Amino acid sequence: MAVWRLDPLSEDLESDDGFRRAVALILAGEPVAVPTETVYGLAADATNARACAKIFAAKDRPRFNPLISHVADQAAAEALGIFDDRARLLARAFWPGPLTLVVPKRPDAAISDLATAGLDSVGLRVPDSPIMQALAAATGRPLAAPSANRSGRISPTTAQAVADDLGDRVALVLDAGPTRVGVESTIVSLTDDTPRLLRPGGIARADIERLLGCPLAAPLPETEDGARPLAPGMLASHYAPNARVRLDAEAVAPGEALLAFGPTLLPGAEAARRIENLSTRGDLVEAAAGLFAKLRLLDASGAATIAVMPIPKSGLGEAINDRLSRAAAPRAG
Ligand code: TXA
Ligand code: MG
Repeated sequence: MAVWRLDPLSEDLESDDGFRRAVALILAGEPVAVPTETVYGLAADATNARACAKIFAAKDRPRFNPLISHVADQAAAEALGIFDDRARLLARAFWPGPLTLVVPKRPDAAISDLATAGLDSVGLRVPDSPIMQALAAATGRPLAAPSANRSGRISPTTAQAVADDLGDRVALVLDAGPTRVGVESTIVSLTDDTPRLLRPGGIARADIERLLGCPLAAPLPETEDGARPLAPGMLASHYAPNARVRLDAEAVAPGEALLAFGPTLLPGAEAARRIENLSTRGDLVEAAAGLFAKLRLLDASGAATIAVMPIPKSGLGEAINDRLSRAAAPRAG
């Protein structure tokens, strides 16, 4: 990993070689580690599903949870999410800064399913970080960025910590010294009438409550299938196909839809109602990038059952299998 030192207060960030390299990498669909005011983030083009899949791969994340999309200003945020009066109030008071707002996603928002985990809401923040803002402006893309550490490890507040943890999994880290806040952003969900605190962080709860004039509710408790709904209605809106999902299929029954993986199809595939292959080359990054869209296509075929070929459990396969087993779980009501 190249560690590139740059001055965040430079008048001329845009002509810095490391900054330009970061812009080129992001536009090429590669993640880059970048400083924000909270922690170092692993940033990629949020409109590009393959780029987001590479974030999950680099972090060894076992689940596709939704990512926060970082944008240059409130106007860019409102192009992706639907802001009501509460959202505007909080955005005006705390942006740029360590506050993430989860709001309904605009139906036409240019953002990949992997960035939102297939939800109809979106997590947005305008970071108080000249480098991150300049990157969002120069690329013209929202930047999906979780903390730049491997899953289960501590969030990095220096470029050296990023290099130690992610090593050669990421091409470049922009080094602007230690981060100022040191903990992640506070996450507030505004997807329905009750504002909820999804994660405490860099902005104090009391400051948000004072402005809203009401207490922040807790996130919803875990449901029996072990999932924690991040917002009311999240399980319902979290993409679940209408069709039954049959995992580890060894053959296709006539009329079933087939979610394939790898070069060899299953016996009976010729009688499938529709076939979508996650990756004919057996590439898990490609598979993750297309997962939500291909499930939707198969569901839209009207088949009663989607048969899913076995998918390796290694690397991104763990998150893919996690998502598929949720889609296959029996659903209440
Ligand atoms: O300080 C931070 O926020 C850091 C720096 C790098 O900016 N970023 C960060 O991002 O922590 P990330 O992607 O790890 O945050 C993911 C969390 C999810 O676990 C969830 O709690 C919330 O953001 N989130 C994002 N989008 C959501 C959505 N549509 N619905 C519910 N929760 C969402
Ligand atoms: Mg983290």
